[in-house]
Amino acid sequence: MAAGVDDIAIYIPRLYLDATDFAEARGLDPVKLQKGLGVSQMSIVDSNQDPACLAANACLKIMQKNKLSPEDIGRLYVSTESAFDESKAMNSYVIGMLEQVYGQGAFEHCGGVETKFACVSGSYALYDNTNWIRAGEAEGKAALVVVSDIAKYDMGSSGEMTQGAGAVVMLLNDNPRLLAFDPKVTATSIKDEYDFYRPFGKETPIVHGQYSNLLYMIQVRKALEAYKKKVISSGLIKIEPGETILDHMDYIHMHLPYSNMGKKALAYLVRHEWRQLPRWKRILQEIGMEEPVPKDPRGTIESVLSDEEFMAKDHEFTKLFSKTPEYQEVYESKLASSLIASTMIGNLYTASLYLGFRSSLEFEYQKGINLDGKRVGFGSYGSGSSAMVFSGVIQPEYEQVVKDMNLEVEVGQRRKLTWDEYEKLHENKLRPDQSMVHSKKEFVLVEVNTEIETRGERRYIFNE
Ligand code: CAA
Repeated sequence: MAAGVDDIAIYIPRLYLDATDFAEARGLDPVKLQKGLGVSQMSIVDSNQDPACLAANACLKIMQKNKLSPEDIGRLYVSTESAFDESKAMNSYVIGMLEQVYGQGAFEHCGGVETKFACVSGSYALYDNTNWIRAGEAEGKAALVVVSDIAKYDMGSSGEMTQGAGAVVMLLNDNPRLLAFDPKVTATSIKDEYDFYRPFGKETPIVHGQYSNLLYMIQVRKALEAYKKKVISSGLIKIEPGETILDHMDYIHMHLPYSNMGKKALAYLVRHEWRQLPRWKRILQEIGMEEPVPKDPRGTIESVLSDEEFMAKDHEFTKLFSKTPEYQEVYESKLASSLIASTMIGNLYTASLYLGFRSSLEFEYQKGINLDGKRVGFGSYGSGSSAMVFSGVIQPEYEQVVKDMNLEVEVGQRRKLTWDEYEKLHENKLRPDQSMVHSKKEFVLVEVNTEIETRGERRYIFNE
């Protein structure tokens, strides 16, 4: 049975911080953000928003757009790494908000949980819900998988320039118009690591930035190896001599904590795949230098990162490799369109891979490319750490959905924050009733109880 993504909707907060203002305030070169990281604007949540209301707003959009009633939905999953309760799941808050619009008890049949594994949990939720449909358990109903996050780092930390916020929701069913997932090829890789984590009670993560960058690439590569074995053994794809698995993916979407991480990760994967092929000799000649190898043959992440000579040479090699016409062709045709939204919105943690998918659909369609039958590969990564590689094929009816996609319209009018406003919001100095934007037709947070008996209870309203 086919199963996959029928439609996709996004909700992005209306406030943003401009990368140039950020760089000026932090004494950084703005080019580092814009060109080095690929960050132009970072969405920031208002004082009356939390990840649950971002998720609920995205769900309402997709339901209204597709004229769905609660009876059409059998499961609602929320994946997030911005959880604010250790027990009560975020999907229950979302259902509570949706029932303000659709009526008390309207979603009581609708199962689901909140899933957590840093930025990769949404991919696990998509996989599990796709299998719920494939197993024939859905009884004609659809699933909503929402990925919603507030990427917030400590003031003055190196992660602060890669913040953002927003939610992406995907409607899954057995007759998807957008993308049918390839069956039996989803591959994972997992390892107990501390590259990025958020201990109980801490609002921002503890991050080992360069370690996390390298671990991300290693883990996704391992998952890609496992995916490759599965596509070969299942007969889904036949890889001819001189080809790599990446030649069989028309699009490759990567997890995007910042847009240039996608570029880095793709270059890493392509380089490792091409190294085995006859074309590599030609590429090395074009680059004009040998591929550097680390001094320590164990090649642990720590030893690689502390090998300064290797790191410098490898950086130079990667830059030259990224400039070769062969790699440029791969980058432009398979990845570039997925990075556009990330540059203007920022890091959405769990949602950033799917914002990239959404971005690619719109901007590739605008190029006039026929997307029907194109295979899309996904490289998902969550710190802590796990990676997932999977794929799907764009369906003949895709145009019905993609022709109306318009990122600017969907994001809506945004307001640029001053530095002072940003600091107040970041340090949680404003109450929900002191929000900067008074949005209409949206769910907002009204209060979080502080009384001992009801501490942590949240109240939301739908702003008419
Ligand atoms: N002009 C142009 N480019 C410049 C520049 C300038 N003046 N200064 C620096 N750059 C370039 C650098 O060359 C570098 O480019 P390359 O990656 O191509 O080498 C880029 O800008 C970034 O510079 P640095 O590597 O020096 O940046 P940094 O060390 O200060 O911070 C970071 C980068 C480590 C990603 C940091 O922002 C961070 O810790 N972020 C949070 C962790 C993170 O996002 N990790 C990603 C993988 S883990 C994950 O993905 C989970 C998750 O979602 C968080």
